[in-house]
Order: sequence, then C-alpha cells, then structure tokens
Amino acid sequence: MPSKVVIIDYGSQVTQLIARRVREAGVYSEIHPCVITAEQVRALEPSAIILSGGPASVGEPDAPALDKGLLDLGTPVLGICYGMQALALTLGGTLEQSRTREYGPADFTFTAASPLWDGLDRSRPSRVWMSHGDTVKTPPPGFSVIGSTATLDVAAMADENRRIYAVQFHPEVHHSEDGDRILRNFLFRIAGLTPDWTMSSFVERVLRETREKVGDGHVICALSGGVDSTVVAVLLHKAIGKRLHCVFVDNGVLRAGEGEEVVNYLREHFDLNLTFVRAQDRFLKLLEGVEDPERKRKIIGHTFIEVFDEEARNISAECGKVEWLAQGTLYPDVIESVSHKGPSAVIKSHHNVGGLPEKMNMKLIEPLRELFKDEVRKVATEIGLPDSITWRHPFPGPGLAIRVVGEVTAARLDILRQADSIVQEELRESGWYRKIWQGFAVLLPLKTVGVMGDGRTYEHVIALRCVDSVDAMTADWARLPAELLERMSRRIINEVKGVNRVVYDISSKPPSTIEWE
Ligand code: XMP
Repeated sequence: MPSKVVIIDYGSQVTQLIARRVREAGVYSEIHPCVITAEQVRALEPSAIILSGGPASVGEPDAPALDKGLLDLGTPVLGICYGMQALALTLGGTLEQSRTREYGPADFTFTAASPLWDGLDRSRPSRVWMSHGDTVKTPPPGFSVIGSTATLDVAAMADENRRIYAVQFHPEVHHSEDGDRILRNFLFRIAGLTPDWTMSSFVERVLRETREKVGDGHVICALSGGVDSTVVAVLLHKAIGKRLHCVFVDNGVLRAGEGEEVVNYLREHFDLNLTFVRAQDRFLKLLEGVEDPERKRKIIGHTFIEVFDEEARNISAECGKVEWLAQGTLYPDVIESVSHKGPSAVIKSHHNVGGLPEKMNMKLIEPLRELFKDEVRKVATEIGLPDSITWRHPFPGPGLAIRVVGEVTAARLDILRQADSIVQEELRESGWYRKIWQGFAVLLPLKTVGVMGDGRTYEHVIALRCVDSVDAMTADWARLPAELLERMSRRIINEVKGVNRVVYDISSKPPSTIEWE
C-alpha cells in the first residue's frame, strides 16, 4: 500500500505548507480537521501522523484536544508547535502559559542525538521559525529533551521507543533552515516511508479509477483555457476517449486569441471531442450598462451556466445521456477549514464553475481534488502539455469584464485586449512570465491629459498589475525591472489607440486585491 501521512489540523495558517512539504518529499499527505477521532484516523490507515500548529492555547477550556487513542495506534507521530503542546498535555507533561507570543526567528540548539537530526551539523545552532504562546515546561514520562533555545528549555522532545516526536518551531516554513531535512528524517528515517507519490503513478491511478467509475457513460467538461480544466480534459480523454465531451464558451471577455489557442492545440494534439460556443454577443448584451463588479460576476456566472446547460442538452440528445460532469476542483478547495473551536466545514465552490453541479443534476467527477496547484502543473508536464498551457497565469472566470473598470463595452474591451497582449508578450519575451504569479492590464474609467506632437490629448489610462504569490491568498507587487516597465508603457502608448498614460500598481494584498474589481 502507498505511504500516507495524515495531518491533523489545529488551525494554523501554515498547515497546508506541511502537506506540501511532505508531498514534495514524495509522500502522499492529507489534512483532516482536529475533531477527527482515533478510530477515524485508524480507518485512514496512515503510515505517519503529523499534528499541526494552531492559534489556541492548550489550557483554554474549549481548546481543541488530541484523542489519546491516536497515540496507541503504533503509528509514528510528529507534533509541531500546538501539536507539541497537545502531546505534552495529553501524555502528562506540564505546560507554561504565556501571555506574549514568541514570533519570528530563533537559534535552536540540538541538545541530544536523535534520528530527527540525522545528517545535521549538531555542533552549531540552527535558525528556526517560531510562532507560539504556551511552552512545554516538563516533558511527559518517557520523553527526553532533544533541543532548546535561549528562551525555551524544551524546544524539542522525543519518545524514541514509541516513535513520538515534537518540535516547538515550524519545520515546514522555509525560514527554518534545516526544516526540510527534519521533516524528511521523520518520514524516512523514523517512519520508514517510501517516496512513492509521483505524478506518473497519480496519472495511472486516475485513468484506472475514471474508467471504473464512468463505465461506458459519457462525461461533459467545461474548458476554460486554464491549466486545471485543460489537465482534467486531457486526463479524461486519455481514460475514456470520445465519450468525453468538452465545451469551450467564448463569453466575449476573453484575452486576445485565448480561446482559439487552447482549443486548436487540444484538437490537433489530442483529437478531443470539443464544441466551441461563440456566445460573445449574448454576454455583452447582458453586460450593457452594468458597472457593479459583483453584478458583472453574477451575469457572467449565470449566463455561462445557461449556455453550458443548453450545450449539455444538445450533446445528451446526440449520444444518449450524459450523466457525468467533470470539474477542476483542487485540494485547497476541498480542505475543510477549521477554527480553533472546531471545523467550520466550509467547502468552497470552485470559482469558475460555481453552481454548475446543483443546477445540472449530474454526478461529479473531480480528478484533481487531491492535488495542489504545483502538482497540477507537474501532471500537465507528465501528460505532455506544452509550457504555454502548463505555466499559464490564472485567469478569472469573469475575465476582462472585471479588468475593464466600469462599464464593459466592445470598444473598451478592444483597448484593454490590445494593451494586455503587449503585457503578455513582453512578460514572455523577458522571461518574467514564469517568475510571477499573474500579470495583466486594467483599463481605468477615466481619461487624462497628454501631449502628442503639438496637440493636447485626452485619453484612457492603463494600469499594469503584476504580482508574486503562491496561492493568491496574499500577494506582493512584482519588482519588475524598470526597463521592462518602460518598454510596456512605451509600446502601449504608441501602439494602442486611445491610451496616453500607463501606471504601475505597487500595492500588496492585503489590503489591496489582485484584481481591481
Ligand atoms: P483577488 O482579486 O481576490 O484575486 O485578490 C485572487 C485570485 O482569484 C482570481 N479571481 C477570480 N477568479 N472568478 C475567478 O474565477 C472571480 O470572480 C475572481 N475574482 C478574482 C484572481 O485573478 C486571482 O488569481
């Protein structure tokens, strides 16, 4: 059976990072809310368990508890931060409550040998990242102290016999310089796991499972041009061939050439069953006079569902019945979010196709629901998609409609499309496209004065938005070289009729969002 790490989430902001680090080490991991019982964990057949950090204080009356039965499963356990304190409290150690939090870097001293420190130079301190209030004062019976810092006598502890380990710092965070090695020591030296989570084994399994699930049924899939839906389509096509029916809707607010590029590629290279629906006029008519961004989103969302539904009926009429709907849901959309009072069980609907399944009364197939975005990109490469699709920046469902600030008209879309094409071209040519999370142009709802030749102009303003991010939850403005910004500005003003000014957005998220609307 493949190795599996179960991560119990006590609500830390960085729990997903633990899961990603484990997977980067080649071991499958999944996150479960902290109210899970030992019996439920046993049923998951984990090969190792990691207890995450969390914002609560273990001493509080409603602090999330650790089911002691977990520690009797005989499975190796690593507690991180809150996980360490929960372990200490459950097994009879003592804790020190603190009113102040220690937050940031600390120098960690390895005070005893341990397989957790395998391969590390124990003669020097290791820089680690801390974020905690409470601390362990005395470890539980059976545990020994294996590390300390200037402020913490017990910064790491271990019961080698029961293979239970705990660290006060966050090894999953890059600022902990030996963190990755420590996590890998836990996985491979201590738990003896095999790094068998590879994208080629994932692809094989998805193909097999899809064939079993769908049998001789038909599946419909909305293609958006982004990497997620393209990977879903290609995987399903490999699994069931022409019984997959893809639908690409041109909603009139796509980038220049966006639809054609992906659709042509997929038709040529994979011989996909694909319907290209040209519904630009229908969408633009409904958007006439609308300025409120949320209304734009709703109109585009509803109309998309209508168009897609009509298409699904046509396809059903042709081939019997289509009972499956494929979606590009990813793992972060599926993880139940927890507050420290327990799981809030909020499952986000997928941004782009939210509402489709309920409306359409179809069975869902979500082949990527175990994957993080970086893993989807690895699958894309594995199944032979070109870099231009694999590394495509995320593009919002409501498309350029939320980048034309104010009313969306064909003329204003045209200006934005031209400016945006220049941005895309320059980012690609300079090699910056791959380095940033998203980069695009925004058309502002104002005109400003300029000079051209001997005359004054009164024309549109384009804002450039380029950001670094790992998950779009937070973002920082990208420090693009001045020469690149200058070239984009000069080209947009020279080549796009109606624009006489370009500005660069230097705000980070929070408080600003990535999109302007
Ligand atoms: P914000 O603007 O909220 O964007 O910082 C975060 C990420 O989400 C994308 N985004 C959307 N995607 N439908 C989508 O499919 C939307 O309505 C939408 N709004 C924002 C945005 O491009 C960024 O990647």
